[in-house]
Amino acid sequence: MTGHIRAVVLAAGKGTRMKSARPKVLHALAGRPMLWHVLRALRDAGVRDVLVVTSGEIDADVPAIAADAGHDAVRTVVQEPQHGTGHAVQIALAQLPPRDGTVLVVNGDMPLVEAVLVRAVFDACGKAAALVTARMPLPSSFGRIVRDGDRVGRIVEARDASDDELALDEMNAGLYAYEEAKLRAAVAELKNDNAQREYYLTDTIASLVAAGERIAPVVAPDYRSVLGVNDRVELAAAAALLNRRLCEHHMRAGVTIVDPATTYLEPDLEIASDVTILPNTTLGRGTKIGAHSEIGPNSRIVGSVLGEHVIVSDSLVRDSRLGDFVAVGPWAHVRGGAQLETGARLGNFVEVKNSTLGPGVKAMHLSYIGDATVGERTNIGAATVTCNYDGEKKNRTIIGKDVFIGTNTLLVAPVEVGDGALTGAGSVVIRDVPPGERVAGNPARAIVKKSQ
Ligand code: UD1
Ligand code: MG
Repeated sequence: MTGHIRAVVLAAGKGTRMKSARPKVLHALAGRPMLWHVLRALRDAGVRDVLVVTSGEIDADVPAIAADAGHDAVRTVVQEPQHGTGHAVQIALAQLPPRDGTVLVVNGDMPLVEAVLVRAVFDACGKAAALVTARMPLPSSFGRIVRDGDRVGRIVEARDASDDELALDEMNAGLYAYEEAKLRAAVAELKNDNAQREYYLTDTIASLVAAGERIAPVVAPDYRSVLGVNDRVELAAAAALLNRRLCEHHMRAGVTIVDPATTYLEPDLEIASDVTILPNTTLGRGTKIGAHSEIGPNSRIVGSVLGEHVIVSDSLVRDSRLGDFVAVGPWAHVRGGAQLETGARLGNFVEVKNSTLGPGVKAMHLSYIGDATVGERTNIGAATVTCNYDGEKKNRTIIGKDVFIGTNTLLVAPVEVGDGALTGAGSVVIRDVPPGERVAGNPARAIVKKSQ
């Protein structure tokens, strides 16, 4: 049944108060566009039939955002020019074949909204309409709910409100459920005789009341879940609340977060219990962290899968895989499909890109390992560089197991160093080194012991 709930998301507004070249609902919080969060809440509430009212500027972006938020298909309709939220709903309804039942209308700029509130307003709709309200600290730019006794009488926008009305502290959240036929009739009659010369969706409330209908208020238990984002101050405030919510979710699931205020998470991370996250750490999209790992301080992990008992300190790990007991940092950079197998260790100022380091490999100081394969237990001395780029293409370096790469070795790729080989300090390796051989010099040659 819930699969048939219809929702209209209003996302066409210019967002002038953002003072941005980027349309408002595409501004990001917790690594996702504002609109993504609204669409995710609808998905979590079981809403599958979604029409997003867009501007020409964002229309092409919406399908990918919706898919990323978990919707199989959303439709869009362009509102151009934008004459207000009521006008946006008129345009949306013109796209939808009329039907009996409830339709949700959701502002696209309320990224903190949660599924439970969506369900609550849907369930409260009754014969005419329901809307979410919240008591908020004043002053506020939200539209005020004007009650007549207990009943919702009308909504007055802050810009059109009298001083008495501005003193009201029950706000219109921007989340509504309407009996569809009544919404169609009410939006058809809207006028724009207000401060902004716009067609306000909120005026439908007074007209339904005038027609003898009753509006069901759903008072949000926490006003913070309905905060709107209209400028960058509100964006930062909403981002902090959302981040706190994400941190609390993981803390309740057994993750120690030493300082949630400086730990930046995104939705859909997988963090096992007994992971510790130290301050000033960001975990981005696609990251999974295994149990007993310790991440941070001052670290960023994006698109990477970490095993158990992994340590990452003061480092950046991107699009890579770290096996159990791997230790990275401080001040390392792992990227581009790097794979560090069990117990591999990187120390300060080591960069690893598109390389596989076998179990127990160590590269503890000042090195670049790019486009390389390194066998188990090999030690990479300080200041080793794989010279992978010949000016035209990237070439591979292959190093076997139990190899000793001496300090300040340059491996000029393509080149291969066999199992158990050794390079002396300062070697410039331009030819393959057979297994077990010891080389040194520039260019590196076999060290031949003088016969007695
Ligand atoms: C709106 C409500 C206000 C409520 C507040 C909650 C109206 C008239 N006012 O005010 O009562 O307290 O939200 O946050 O509805 N949009 C369109 N087309 C347009 C105009 C807006 O799609 O022509 C979209 C915007 O992109 C936005 C949403 O509708 O996502 C709300 O518009 P916004 O301009 O932010 O309205 P508020 O002034 O915040
Ligand atoms: Mg708004």
